[in-house]
Amino acid sequence: MSDARPVGIFDSGLGGLTVVKELVRLMPGEELIYLGDTARFPYGGRSDETIRNLGLQDAKFLLKRDIKMIVVACNTVSSVALEYLRESVHDIPVIGVVLPGARAAVFRTAEKKIGVIGTAATIRTQSYVKAIHDIDPDIKVFFRACPLFAPLVEDNLYDSEIARMVAQHYIYQLVDNGIDCLILGCTHYPLLMEVIQGVVGSRVELIDSALWAAKEAQDILTALDACNPRSTGGLEGSTFFITDLTPGFSQGAQIFLGQKLNKIEKIELEKITG
Ligand code: DGL
Repeated sequence: MSDARPVGIFDSGLGGLTVVKELVRLMPGEELIYLGDTARFPYGGRSDETIRNLGLQDAKFLLKRDIKMIVVACNTVSSVALEYLRESVHDIPVIGVVLPGARAAVFRTAEKKIGVIGTAATIRTQSYVKAIHDIDPDIKVFFRACPLFAPLVEDNLYDSEIARMVAQHYIYQLVDNGIDCLILGCTHYPLLMEVIQGVVGSRVELIDSALWAAKEAQDILTALDACNPRSTGGLEGSTFFITDLTPGFSQGAQIFLGQKLNKIEKIELEKITG
């Protein structure tokens, strides 16, 4: 058996493209439908109730397009609303980014000291701390909310002096705690990888939750025998919907993915999902 339906992915903006990049690398045959809710970015400073509602609307939009899986490519929604979304979406798998990233960090830490950075909501929920302690309660977890990081990325300021100063401000104390792994607990953060690595030094391994989430999506589709046999996917075969045509999105997508996206379409989410 196989399944040619697309995989649905959503994030509050550009950050979920870090998951797209890995999905395309691992499963070039899959067609992807991406939703970046650029009009309502950022999600990370909002209340749990609002984040649940935003996440549900995003999922409803994707469900209208006959998809076979939802990848919640946003740590904020994964932290606050993954179970809620799973209860609301019954017939297809819904996967998040927190558990795959936590598992990878537990596997990699030798010192049993892991750092986590994310949005205010992700850190507030303690989602990574819980996921890590469910696997190994002896691991010490140090965390820090970095609310300025995602806007810097959305504004294409990946490689800038200001990004370096902000990274220094947020992260230096985490390193003092002797961590050997740092989870990038926001899908925007892999775009700041070089800046963050420059601050933490080469001793600390950066764990990209986007990469591990893409691997999990691949494992689930393979286990369900639901991969796309037609090879119609890749970036060319995929569609990108955004809720506001911000210049940062198409420019950032091009820099990050290394090619211009042909199919970017602006939608009015509330009209479509009611
Ligand atoms: N990409 C989102 C995440 O992984 C964060 C950006 C936002 O605050 O909307 O949490």
